Amino acid sequence: MSKFWSDVVSGLTPYVPGEQPKLDNLVKLNTNENPYGPSPQVIRALQAEAADSLRLYPDPNSDKLKAAIAGYYGLQPSQVFVGNGSDEVLAHVFQALLKQSRPLLFPDITYSFYPVYCGLYDIEYEEIPLNASYEIDVKEYDRPNGGIIFPNPNAPTSVPLALVEIEKLLKINTESVVVIDEAYVDFGTESAVKLINTYPNLLVTQTLSKARSLAGLRVGYALGHKDLVEALIRVKDSFNSYPIDRFAEAGAIAAMQDKTYFEETCKKIIATRVALVKELQALSFEVLPSGANFIFAKHKTRAGAELTAKLREKNIIIRHFKKPARIAPYLRITIGTDAQSKQLVDALTLILK
Ligand SMILES: Cc1ncc(COP(=O)(O)O)c(C=O)c1O
Repeated sequence: MSKFWSDVVSGLTPYVPGEQPKLDNLVKLNTNENPYGPSPQVIRALQAEAADSLRLYPDPNSDKLKAAIAGYYGLQPSQVFVGNGSDEVLAHVFQALLKQSRPLLFPDITYSFYPVYCGLYDIEYEEIPLNASYEIDVKEYDRPNGGIIFPNPNAPTSVPLALVEIEKLLKINTESVVVIDEAYVDFGTESAVKLINTYPNLLVTQTLSKARSLAGLRVGYALGHKDLVEALIRVKDSFNSYPIDRFAEAGAIAAMQDKTYFEETCKKIIATRVALVKELQALSFEVLPSGANFIFAKHKTRAGAELTAKLREKNIIIRHFKKPARIAPYLRITIGTDAQSKQLVDALTLILK
């Protein structure tokens, strides 16, 4: 705290990202990164970009990247907004579309950045409890609101919501923006992108950080009606004209183009997840149904904090949330390679003995 801080800064409770430790020998299953590297085509595109042209600013509109993303989904480039990771895209969404006179609605257990953006932009919000099975019940969102946002699959629970439920929500909620944060959608959850041309109040955000193995490049995007996209562009152009640098644009285009590599990587991660869930169940864990590249699991008798600490002693890091109390027994475990899964299961077997 300093006397030079503004009132807004003094009142902030910033988001705390998962640890990025400096040690090399860790099994790192704590921040939902992809265990496989990006497509070789991405690496080649980045190498080609290391050139004299770096003295020039990048395209402020990222037109080539928008065209690649629009082409991938069969949308118009005017329906695509790109930003420096989906966190930045979400920040603009909160300011441009979700700051309204009525409260924003999101689940009580969800991505913990949402309340942080509300604090930054002074947005009132209401938390809607997940049901007893940790699912989003769309009927609960049928109340006056200035917007609705949740991830699908939800984080940190990993639980997916069926597309028919999202469509039900869009039918009952036509007067405010519904944002579906699809950061993890490619690992077995149905995407709402196909509803975009039917519902002008639907905005879908996605990222290249997870399924396309590019957390280090920082590229995310939003897809929706061109009027929603225009609102985001207005905020972006009042904030930072060049959020996508030359490397990010070249690498992201190559990643969108290499569909085969992307699909194979997702398939491998889903297969590892299915196998890991079985192993954990055999060790007396209850695992929530996952549509993500991570799982949310609790042991029948042992506490979440204790297991996290014991795994850490064995150089395996996972994520544990102390709050809210309902999720304190759970471990959030990123799906790694098969070899990393084996190390995790071997370590847990020893710890639980
Ligand atoms: C639900 C959810 N949305 C968005 C993000 C942001 O991802 P990025 O900024 O890397 O695109 C994350 C990151 O972990 C996430 O868990």
